[in-house]
Amino acid sequence: MTLLVPKHIAIIMDGNGRWAKSKNMPRTYGHKAGADTLRKILTSCGELGVEYLTVYAFSTENWKRAKEEVDALMFLFKTYLKNEKKVLMKKNVKFIVSGRKEGVSVGLLNEIKKLEDATSGNTGITLNIAFNYGGRSELVDAIKKIVENGEKDITESTVEKYLYNHLPDPELLIRTSGEIRISNFLLWQIAYSEIYITDTHWPDFNEAELLKAIESYQKRDRRFGGVNVK
Ligand code: FPP
Repeated sequence: MTLLVPKHIAIIMDGNGRWAKSKNMPRTYGHKAGADTLRKILTSCGELGVEYLTVYAFSTENWKRAKEEVDALMFLFKTYLKNEKKVLMKKNVKFIVSGRKEGVSVGLLNEIKKLEDATSGNTGITLNIAFNYGGRSELVDAIKKIVENGEKDITESTVEKYLYNHLPDPELLIRTSGEIRISNFLLWQIAYSEIYITDTHWPDFNEAELLKAIESYQKRDRRFGGVNVK
C-alpha cells in the first residue's frame, strides 16, 4: 500500500507565548522563533511533496492582544514579506494570503501584494498565510459577495468560489501546544479534515513532529460519512 502524503496541510501555530514564558522571555521572542519554525516546516513540506500549506498567523480576534504584541506581530510579518522573496523564489514557493484587508495597514497590504505578484508564477508548494483571518468572517464576506452578485443557484461550489482563496480542502489539520479547539480557523474547509494535536509548542515543532502527524493521518480510516468495505 502506498502511504499518501496529504496534498494540503493546515496548521494552527499555537504556543509561541508559552514557549517564550518557559524561557523567561517576552512573548514577541516566541513569535520570532515561530517564524523560524515556519521557514523550516515550509521547506520540509515542500520536500515531502505537500502541495499547499496554510498557517494561522493572525486571527481577527488577535487584535484584542496588547498593542505592543500586535505591533510586534505586524512588524514581524512585514519583515518576513520584505526578506523572504529570494528564498521563496529559490524554493519555487507560491505565496498567498487569506484574510480581511480592513484594519491592515496600507504598507503591509502593499508588501503582501508585491510578494503575491512576484511568486504567482511559481509552481511548487503554495504557502497560504491566514492573516487577519477568521472562519466566520470569511463566510460572512462570501455570503455578502454572493448576494451582491445576485447568485441564484446556491450550491457548495458557489460558496467555495467566494472564499478568500479557492484551494482544495486540507486533509490534515495540525494544532500545536495542546488545546483541543478550532479557534475560528477554516470553518468551511475542515469539514472532513483529520485533526492532529500535539503538546509541543510551535517554536519546538520540527520535521520529526511533522512526520509523526503525517504518519498518524496515514493510519486514519477516512469515510467521509460513508462506510469503508475492507
Ligand atoms: C499563537 O501563539 C500564535 C500566534 C497568534 C501568532 C503566530 C505567528 C507566528 C508563528 C509567526 C508567523 C510569522 C510570520 C512571519 C508569518 P500564542 O501567542 O497564542 O501562544 P500562547 O497560546 O502560548 O500564548
